[in-house]
Amino acid sequence: MLEELAEAIAPYRGQKGALIPILQKAQGEIGYLPEEIISEIANFLGLTKNEIYGVASFYAQFRFERQGEHTIKCCQGTACYVQGGKSILKTVEDNLNIEPGKTITDDYKFSLERVACFGSCALAPVIVVDKTVYGRMTSAKVRQLLAQY
Ligand code: FES
Repeated sequence: MLEELAEAIAPYRGQKGALIPILQKAQGEIGYLPEEIISEIANFLGLTKNEIYGVASFYAQFRFERQGEHTIKCCQGTACYVQGGKSILKTVEDNLNIEPGKTITDDYKFSLERVACFGSCALAPVIVVDKTVYGRMTSAKVRQLLAQY
């Protein structure tokens, strides 16, 4: 475990109710919660890894895989899907060299997520890069957008 993290969570030793703040601190230090960190926290709190995963997976804020520098979310909800969302996703995967089903580029520059709906259906098909929403996407627009990064 990172020394800084060990220091940050030391005051919580033995406090099982401190799981959420500890997970937040760990993710804040490392960026995500790899299995070895979950093991360390389990030992630290006297919990099992399964107990920690059971709690942490309930919260959308916790990530268990390393994230890329930029996150691209491709909507695959109904409105986007019927407007070509599948083709937009394929264009992103092809341009970033991400195999279908994978979530990150080899250089860790981009993470790719498939999401159900952003609530921006009128702009379908939609992708979101970091926090910016891009609507009425086409494959050509996706290529132009990705070239900016
Ligand atoms: S289905 Fe894509 S934004 Fe709603």
